[in-house]
Amino acid sequence: MAATHGATLETATASHLVDMEAFFCGPRSDDDAGLAACRWLEEGKILYFAQSPFPLPPGDVEVLLRQRQSDHRWHKNIAYRPLQDRLTGFDAKHSDAARMHEIMRSFSRRLLDYTATLLPAYARVWRLDYASFRPLEEQGRQLRLQARNDLVHVDSFPKRPTHGDRILRIFTNINPHAERHWITSDPLDVLAQQMGREFAQHLAPPAGPALWRRWAARAGLPLRPYSAYDETMRGIHRRMKESALFQQSCRKNHSHFPPGSAWLVFTDAVPHAVVSGQYALEQTVIVPRAAMLLPERSPAAVLERLATPPQQRRAA
Ligand SMILES: [Fe+2]
Repeated sequence: MAATHGATLETATASHLVDMEAFFCGPRSDDDAGLAACRWLEEGKILYFAQSPFPLPPGDVEVLLRQRQSDHRWHKNIAYRPLQDRLTGFDAKHSDAARMHEIMRSFSRRLLDYTATLLPAYARVWRLDYASFRPLEEQGRQLRLQARNDLVHVDSFPKRPTHGDRILRIFTNINPHAERHWITSDPLDVLAQQMGREFAQHLAPPAGPALWRRWAARAGLPLRPYSAYDETMRGIHRRMKESALFQQSCRKNHSHFPPGSAWLVFTDAVPHAVVSGQYALEQTVIVPRAAMLLPERSPAAVLERLATPPQQRRAA
């Protein structure tokens, strides 16, 4: 089953995902298309392409499909760092190593070229993060709770703080035979509104520096600068996964991404889980908060509202 089925533009944009091929069939200018795409993303929608606009050559797909990673914590994904032109998580002595590097480099470049044309307002200021290849079947993976992808969560990078800038991820399913099945929920700004005080109490209590950080600082050890935003987002990520109540009760929109499809989403705001799927490629870019068209909907604005006493909010 495809992510959308026979969707008109109206029905596609009204749902949790936007059928971009239907959108491109209608009348529009490139400027309008770029702004509409940014707005949909910031509203928490998934931009969906039934056929990836940056397809891989069949020979590259063949090489990727024959990779079998050991299911080790540090080899969860094969990663490509475009800024350093570096491949990690793959045995450098493997006979496919040079080819893998070349495939990941060209995938990342083609994807970024296309996405920059689609979203020029973001591309002018975005920072390149990693690309990754996910060769393992997600269904039934035995992982510790915090590493599980099948629990609904928002993304937060423990080692790469964004300080309120946004995590935009672009995916493609290169599995020739099987869909990639996702669940997504309401974006953080909608959740915060719906849950009211419950959101602050259960998912986003104020975060202070962790005990280990205070000890390390006292001991004079070198530390990355502390970011209250990233600590809180990490806390939301953790609490969502730990809360059986949230996992059971949150709204669940199902997306079935067929072979060859592609999709874009702000995964820091849109809670998501991967139910099943094997062989996906992904590229992340970090978009500065200042580039948002709807800044009040970004997670940083949600957290700032939570930290502002109600009387001050009314006065503002
Ligand atoms: Fe995630």
